[in-house]
Amino acid sequence: MKLLFIGDIVGSVGRKALKTVLPRLKMKYNPHWIVVNGENAAAGRGITETITKEFFDMGVHGITMGNHTWDQKDIFEFIDREKRLVRPANFPWGTPGQGMTFIKVKDKELAIINLQGRTFLPPLDCPFAKADELVEEARKRTPYIFVDFHAEATSEKLAMGWHLDGRVSAVVGTHTHVQTHDERLLPQGTAYLTDVGMVGPMNGILGMEREAVLYKFQTQLPARFVVDEGKWHFHAVCIELNPDTGLGKKLQLIRMEEDDLLFE
Ligand SMILES: [Fe+2]
Ligand SMILES: [Fe+2]
Repeated sequence: MKLLFIGDIVGSVGRKALKTVLPRLKMKYNPHWIVVNGENAAAGRGITETITKEFFDMGVHGITMGNHTWDQKDIFEFIDREKRLVRPANFPWGTPGQGMTFIKVKDKELAIINLQGRTFLPPLDCPFAKADELVEEARKRTPYIFVDFHAEATSEKLAMGWHLDGRVSAVVGTHTHVQTHDERLLPQGTAYLTDVGMVGPMNGILGMEREAVLYKFQTQLPARFVVDEGKWHFHAVCIELNPDTGLGKKLQLIRMEEDDLLFE
């Protein structure tokens, strides 16, 4: 029983990479569920309904978001009716959309929870308290519970992993766009990875054109960031779950570059 989670898809280069790589990953891992983080899918900022459809047509079952959730105004038109997309659950009360969803594939239901950290990010409701509330609700329905914790600080992400150990199938981080190499099973059985990494232009800085990012770092002046062009890299994780308990069995990091395909 496998869950494939693919990190932040950045712009058209990222979407192209997903389209190229996903069929291969389906063949290789035969995942039961496929979840992607889509917060940067539309030109690096947010997501549109057309892009969500593109992802679902490719076989994606659920989409998680993050701090870029509201960047495309289109989101307000569809977020309340698109139940396969979740935004951070600890956004302020009354915010459109939902922070948890249930996706049924061949009789097995996966709860997908999206939360956002508060370190170096805007102040939000407590993600730990929100996690407790949602996990309790989810566990009444299914043992398969996936948490995308969208956060900047490695410490906050690790804290969430330990907080939820034994209560959810997996806690995987997003947002930094850099894959970490600390995949592990926590003692009570939760699969954990600090950050899954991104899918998109590999020679930009976190997917954005280098020049503007460097200029901003060097001058401290405002700069307009645009998604880089060129070759992609692709980061994901395949998590094997115990079909009886829903807990983690094994994690496998996936990391590919566009040129790797030439050598297949
Ligand atoms: Fe992101
Ligand atoms: Fe983010």
